[in-house]
Amino acid sequence: MPMEWAFPADQKEGVYRAIYERRDVRHFKAGAIAEEVLNRIIDAGLAAPSVGYMQPWRFVRIQQASLREEIFQLAEHERQQTAAALGERKEEFLRLKTDGIRECAEVIVVLLCDHRERYIFGRRSMPHMDLASASCAIQNMWLAARAEGIGLGWVSLFDPDELRALLKAPNGAEPIAILCLGHVERFDERPLLETAGWDSHRERADVLMTDQWITPTAGYSDKDSL
Ligand SMILES: Cc1cc2nc3c(=O)[nH]c(=O)nc-3n(C[C@H](O)[C@H](O)[C@H](O)COP(=O)(O)O)c2cc1C
Repeated sequence: MPMEWAFPADQKEGVYRAIYERRDVRHFKAGAIAEEVLNRIIDAGLAAPSVGYMQPWRFVRIQQASLREEIFQLAEHERQQTAAALGERKEEFLRLKTDGIRECAEVIVVLLCDHRERYIFGRRSMPHMDLASASCAIQNMWLAARAEGIGLGWVSLFDPDELRALLKAPNGAEPIAILCLGHVERFDERPLLETAGWDSHRERADVLMTDQWITPTAGYSDKDSL
């Protein structure tokens, strides 16, 4: 069957290349991101699918150095809290680099908009589809950034109430990501959490089921903290 709507082979390859070579980046090198490149990355986010077309994403670009430092301190505080909650993997976690807030060229906070309760379409039984939609926007940005040669890291280590207050966002808005963007020395071949031994890649056979859920015989116990 000819695939009449498929992209030409080289363009298809480009799409898959961005998907497989995208990395969560936490190590950045100096240098500003050209304004037109940053705008293309943000516009890629705005092209994402969203439940009921609600487009719940909002972005706050951080330009004040003191505000960036306060955001870093929030992440650092949450990193310590996370470490304490991890129990026996605490030291291993603390050795991981979990953000690039201080070093990256651009920090952009992504929030869910306020008044989301007005949006019922696709959210009546699953209100968290707003978060799913904004995550699609971030994934688009991640892929666009990779294609542009720009690294992007998603930092979710923060107290959302405190970050909302720092940005003077309304009560109904919810910060979901601190995005760090910048130039990189390289894109690692594998996720940092994989090379550091934190967790391993799940193969298709591990996650794809047919017709019904199959509980694996071996796996993580409820007691393991990840
Ligand atoms: C919703 C979400 C939140 C994340 N938050 C963090 C974070 O706070 N700190 C961090 O180091 N990585 C964070 N990451 C990145 C993941 O650790 C990373 O995606 C995963 O290890 C796989 O690596 P890869 O993105 O390079 O393939 C986050 C990723 C997602 C999707």
